[in-house]
Amino acid sequence: MSLKMLIHRTKTIAIILVTLFSGTVLAHDGAVGIVKERMERFQQNQKNLRLIKSHLQNGKLSPIAPLASEIREWAEVMPEYFPEGSDGKPSEASPEIWSNPAGFQAAAFANFQAADTLMFAIESEDIDLAKSAFRDVAASCKSCHMSFRER
Ligand code: HEC
Repeated sequence: MSLKMLIHRTKTIAIILVTLFSGTVLAHDGAVGIVKERMERFQQNQKNLRLIKSHLQNGKLSPIAPLASEIREWAEVMPEYFPEGSDGKPSEASPEIWSNPAGFQAAAFANFQAADTLMFAIESEDIDLAKSAFRDVAASCKSCHMSFRER
Protein backbone atom coordinates (compact mmCIF):
# COMPACT_ATOMS: atom_id res chain seq x y z
CA MET A 1 0.00 0.00 0.00
CA SER A 2 1.34 3.43 -0.90
CA LEU A 3 1.80 6.04 1.78
CA LYS A 4 -0.83 8.20 0.10
CA MET A 5 -3.39 5.40 0.27
CA LEU A 6 -2.57 4.73 3.88
CA ILE A 7 -3.10 8.38 4.80
CA HIS A 8 -6.37 8.40 2.89
CA ARG A 9 -7.60 5.29 4.71
CA THR A 10 -6.62 6.64 8.09
CA LYS A 11 -8.52 9.84 7.34
CA THR A 12 -11.60 7.91 6.24
CA ILE A 13 -11.58 5.79 9.40
CA ALA A 14 -11.14 8.91 11.54
CA ILE A 15 -14.12 10.55 9.86
CA ILE A 16 -16.27 7.44 10.37
CA LEU A 17 -15.33 7.29 14.06
CA VAL A 18 -16.09 10.98 14.60
CA THR A 19 -19.45 10.59 12.87
CA LEU A 20 -20.36 7.54 14.94
CA PHE A 21 -19.54 9.14 18.27
CA SER A 22 -21.08 12.52 17.60
CA GLY A 23 -24.14 10.64 16.34
CA THR A 24 -24.68 8.87 19.65
CA VAL A 25 -24.23 12.09 21.59
CA LEU A 26 -26.55 14.19 19.43
CA ALA A 27 -29.34 11.67 18.93
CA HIS A 28 -29.36 10.78 22.65
CA ASP A 29 -30.10 7.08 22.51
CA GLY A 30 -32.06 7.35 19.30
CA ALA A 31 -34.44 10.10 20.43
CA VAL A 32 -35.80 12.18 17.57
CA GLY A 33 -38.05 15.16 17.04
CA ILE A 34 -39.84 16.67 20.00
CA VAL A 35 -38.59 13.98 22.39
CA LYS A 36 -35.01 14.85 21.53
CA GLU A 37 -35.76 18.57 21.86
CA ARG A 38 -37.23 18.21 25.33
CA MET A 39 -34.36 15.97 26.47
CA GLU A 40 -31.93 18.68 25.39
CA ARG A 41 -33.90 21.34 27.24
CA PHE A 42 -33.92 19.19 30.39
CA GLN A 43 -30.19 18.62 30.12
CA GLN A 44 -29.71 22.36 29.86
CA ASN A 45 -31.86 22.66 33.01
CA GLN A 46 -29.50 20.34 34.81
CA LYS A 47 -26.47 22.37 33.73
CA ASN A 48 -28.15 25.62 34.75
CA LEU A 49 -29.07 24.23 38.14
CA ARG A 50 -25.48 23.13 38.81
CA LEU A 51 -24.11 26.52 37.74
CA ILE A 52 -26.62 28.36 39.92
CA LYS A 53 -25.57 26.25 42.88
CA SER A 54 -21.91 27.10 42.45
CA HIS A 55 -22.61 30.81 41.95
CA LEU A 56 -24.66 30.81 45.16
CA GLN A 57 -21.83 29.10 47.01
CA ASN A 58 -19.48 31.83 45.77
CA GLY A 59 -21.98 34.52 46.67
CA LYS A 60 -22.28 35.70 43.06
CA LEU A 61 -25.82 36.68 42.21
CA SER A 62 -25.72 38.48 38.86
CA PRO A 63 -24.58 35.50 36.71
CA ILE A 64 -27.59 33.57 38.01
CA ALA A 65 -30.18 35.75 36.25
CA PRO A 66 -29.83 34.33 32.70
CA LEU A 67 -29.68 30.76 34.07
CA ALA A 68 -32.81 31.14 36.19
CA SER A 69 -34.52 32.90 33.31
CA GLU A 70 -33.83 29.95 31.03
CA ILE A 71 -35.30 27.52 33.58
CA ARG A 72 -38.38 29.72 33.90
CA GLU A 73 -38.83 29.97 30.11
CA TRP A 74 -38.61 26.21 29.73
CA ALA A 75 -41.08 25.61 32.57
CA GLU A 76 -43.57 27.87 30.83
CA VAL A 77 -43.63 25.92 27.57
CA MET A 78 -42.77 22.46 28.96
CA PRO A 79 -46.28 20.92 28.73
CA GLU A 80 -46.40 21.80 25.00
CA TYR A 81 -43.43 19.50 24.46
CA PHE A 82 -45.41 16.47 25.61
CA PRO A 83 -47.94 15.76 22.86
CA GLU A 84 -50.05 12.68 23.45
CA GLY A 85 -48.34 9.47 22.34
CA SER A 86 -44.80 10.84 22.74
CA ASP A 87 -43.91 8.33 25.45
CA GLY A 88 -42.28 4.94 24.93
CA LYS A 89 -38.59 4.21 24.39
CA PRO A 90 -36.21 6.03 24.54
CA SER A 91 -38.41 8.55 26.35
CA GLU A 92 -38.76 8.37 30.12
CA ALA A 93 -42.09 10.20 30.08
CA SER A 94 -44.67 8.51 32.30
CA PRO A 95 -48.21 7.84 30.97
CA GLU A 96 -49.33 9.82 34.06
CA ILE A 97 -48.59 12.98 32.04
CA TRP A 98 -51.60 12.26 29.85
CA SER A 99 -53.84 10.60 32.43
CA ASN A 100 -53.35 13.55 34.81
CA PRO A 101 -52.65 16.57 32.59
CA ALA A 102 -53.75 19.06 35.28
CA GLY A 103 -51.25 17.53 37.71
CA PHE A 104 -48.47 17.73 35.14
CA GLN A 105 -49.28 21.36 34.36
CA ALA A 106 -49.35 22.19 38.06
CA ALA A 107 -45.92 20.57 38.47
CA ALA A 108 -44.54 22.64 35.59
CA PHE A 109 -46.13 25.75 37.09
CA ALA A 110 -44.54 25.07 40.50
CA ASN A 111 -41.18 24.93 38.69
CA PHE A 112 -42.01 28.19 36.89
CA GLN A 113 -42.95 29.95 40.13
CA ALA A 114 -39.83 28.83 41.97
CA ALA A 115 -37.65 30.07 39.10
CA ASP A 116 -39.62 33.32 39.06
CA THR A 117 -39.00 33.83 42.78
CA LEU A 118 -35.33 33.13 42.17
CA MET A 119 -35.29 35.84 39.48
CA PHE A 120 -36.94 38.25 41.91
CA ALA A 121 -34.35 37.41 44.58
CA ILE A 122 -31.51 38.13 42.15
CA GLU A 123 -33.06 41.43 41.09
CA SER A 124 -33.47 42.46 44.72
CA GLU A 125 -29.97 41.15 45.58
CA ASP A 126 -31.41 39.03 48.38
CA ILE A 127 -29.05 36.09 48.85
CA ASP A 128 -31.13 34.37 51.53
CA LEU A 129 -34.22 34.45 49.37
CA ALA A 130 -32.12 33.30 46.40
CA LYS A 131 -30.91 30.29 48.38
CA SER A 132 -34.38 29.26 49.48
CA ALA A 133 -35.79 29.83 45.98
CA PHE A 134 -32.99 27.69 44.58
CA ARG A 135 -33.98 24.87 46.93
CA ASP A 136 -37.58 25.25 45.80
CA VAL A 137 -36.53 25.05 42.14
CA ALA A 138 -34.56 21.85 42.77
CA ALA A 139 -37.44 20.39 44.83
CA SER A 140 -39.92 21.15 42.04
CA CYS A 141 -37.72 19.29 39.51
CA LYS A 142 -37.57 16.29 41.80
CA SER A 143 -41.25 16.34 42.66
CA CYS A 144 -42.27 16.30 38.99
CA HIS A 145 -39.83 13.49 38.25
CA MET A 146 -41.28 11.39 41.08
CA SER A 147 -44.75 11.50 39.53
CA PHE A 148 -44.16 11.96 35.82
CA ARG A 149 -40.81 10.46 34.86
CA GLU A 150 -40.03 6.75 34.62
CA ARG A 151 -36.54 5.37 34.90
C1 HEC B 1 -43.39 19.24 35.14
C2 HEC B 1 -42.47 18.14 35.16
C3 HEC B 1 -41.00 18.34 35.16
C4 HEC B 1 -40.26 19.36 35.74
C5 HEC B 1 -40.75 20.56 36.51
C6 HEC B 1 -38.87 19.04 35.47
N1 HEC B 1 -38.77 17.88 34.78
FE1 HEC B 1 -37.05 16.99 34.18
N2 HEC B 1 -38.13 15.60 33.15
C7 HEC B 1 -39.49 15.49 33.16
C8 HEC B 1 -39.90 14.39 32.30
C9 HEC B 1 -41.32 13.93 32.04
C10 HEC B 1 -38.71 13.86 31.77
C11 HEC B 1 -38.59 12.69 30.78
C12 HEC B 1 -38.62 13.26 29.35
C13 HEC B 1 -38.47 12.20 28.29
O1 HEC B 1 -37.59 11.31 28.44
O2 HEC B 1 -39.21 12.23 27.29
C14 HEC B 1 -37.61 14.64 32.33
C15 HEC B 1 -36.28 14.41 32.05
C16 HEC B 1 -35.23 15.11 32.62
C17 HEC B 1 -33.84 14.82 32.39
C18 HEC B 1 -33.27 13.72 31.46
C19 HEC B 1 -33.19 14.27 30.05
C20 HEC B 1 -32.67 13.24 29.08
O3 HEC B 1 -31.74 13.55 28.35
O4 HEC B 1 -33.21 12.12 29.03
C21 HEC B 1 -33.10 15.71 33.13
C22 HEC B 1 -31.60 15.81 33.22
C23 HEC B 1 -34.05 16.55 33.83
N3 HEC B 1 -35.33 16.15 33.49
C24 HEC B 1 -33.70 17.58 34.67
C25 HEC B 1 -34.62 18.47 35.23
C26 HEC B 1 -34.25 19.61 36.05
C27 HEC B 1 -32.84 19.96 36.47
C28 HEC B 1 -35.40 20.25 36.37
C29 HEC B 1 -35.59 21.46 37.19
C30 HEC B 1 -34.79 22.64 36.96
C31 HEC B 1 -36.48 19.49 35.76
N4 HEC B 1 -35.97 18.43 35.08
C32 HEC B 1 -37.82 19.83 35.90
C33 HEC B 1 -40.37 16.26 33.87
C34 HEC B 1 -40.03 17.42 34.56
